[in-house]
Amino acid sequence: MVLRNYQAEYKKKTRGSAKIFAKSLKLHVNGVSHNIRYYDPYPFVVKSSRGKSLIDVDDNRYTDYWMGHWSLILGHSPKKVKSLLKNQIEKSWMYGTVNEQTVKLSELISKAVPVAEKIRYVTSGTEATMYAVRLARSVTGKQIIAKIDGGWHGYTSDLLKSVNWPFSESESSGIVNEEKIVSIPFNDLEGSMKILKKHALNLAGVIIEPVLGGAGCIPATKEYLKGIQEFIHKNESLLILDEIVTGFRFRYGCLYPTMKLDPDIVTLGKIVGGGMAIGVVCGKREIMEYADTNDKKKSERSYIGGGTFSANPASMTTGFATLTELKNKRSTYEKINKLGEYARKELGKTSDGKAIITGKGSLFMTHFVKDGVTEIANASQASMCDIKALHDHHFKLIARDGIFFLPGKLGAISDTHTKQDIKEMVSAYFT
Ligand SMILES: Cc1ncc(COP(=O)(O)O)c(C=O)c1O
Repeated sequence: MVLRNYQAEYKKKTRGSAKIFAKSLKLHVNGVSHNIRYYDPYPFVVKSSRGKSLIDVDDNRYTDYWMGHWSLILGHSPKKVKSLLKNQIEKSWMYGTVNEQTVKLSELISKAVPVAEKIRYVTSGTEATMYAVRLARSVTGKQIIAKIDGGWHGYTSDLLKSVNWPFSESESSGIVNEEKIVSIPFNDLEGSMKILKKHALNLAGVIIEPVLGGAGCIPATKEYLKGIQEFIHKNESLLILDEIVTGFRFRYGCLYPTMKLDPDIVTLGKIVGGGMAIGVVCGKREIMEYADTNDKKKSERSYIGGGTFSANPASMTTGFATLTELKNKRSTYEKINKLGEYARKELGKTSDGKAIITGKGSLFMTHFVKDGVTEIANASQASMCDIKALHDHHFKLIARDGIFFLPGKLGAISDTHTKQDIKEMVSAYFT
């Protein structure tokens, strides 16, 4: 499907962005500080954000479905979060020492996520998954980690394998010991078991997301996750659930209890930081205690961080304020999950067979079908879809309609979106 080229319209309304981005290109690789933030001809430059909206330097307003890498479940700069953050900033935003804000956030997380018997904070999801892998290796004394074809866990060197199609090609130079990471097909228990069994003796753990985010917002089936868990636990390996996207996204807490799973380590990020830098590695006490540096010898311990900005009072405050708001207003989930369901249903109808819509709760993704794809249950099927068409449609929405999806990525609904917003997005999407 060929769309009109909207670049001329975009360039006309984003002249200020073009000027700033030209400077940015001189200073930064590809002009950006996260690869996915670049799109042609240049990304617009944001000067402020509020509620459901981003405002660019040319005063264009965009209804945002990217929502800060899906971290802003309450929308941009929500009042109560802002107010607590302001109070904290008055006191200071960086101590580099123990602070009470951390304890307050951890009390909320440990109540809502039963497996979080011990918690360690870092400043990104990437760090959290890096430490989760190290912990699994320390605890089991084994080396191999299995991940999912198409699974994204940040730029963690260990996990930078089998992310993009074709999964057999290395994602980057500079990565060593790739043979210590194996990749299994999502939602294919038989195919996954064959690979896991081959590596059983040296298998430290499996890292998996309950909803495969990067590859297209595809929920795992209960049977698949249960089957993987059963094998892992019999094999004395560990289950690492990466809930960096799914944690506090669909309900107050993680997704795993709804699937009756018993993970050993859980990683969190995004929403639990309330829009400030965060990563969390947490899990069962006996596992997390491998990180103990007081009583354990070097040869026994798992030496995992923090870093300079771990558990800084600003991130702890925005995380605490966000979770408090979600805890006190559980109807938020009912509302945004329903809006997500509505978006998927209506997009499915209006796509007129051109696309399959995947997702769960308030997350959704469009896959423009080609080559006879009739189902999207894993990253291989997602990668057979027309990814260029998705980029073109997202760019059209930016240029023509003032609706922002990061081109090619899934959409997230926040508490600030209304049914009317979704209706407008749906009616613009395929036209
Ligand atoms: C499932 C998952 N894990 C880990 C990460 C990495 O988190 P961060 O971007 O904070 O490093 C992401 C980021 O999108 C993610 O989606």
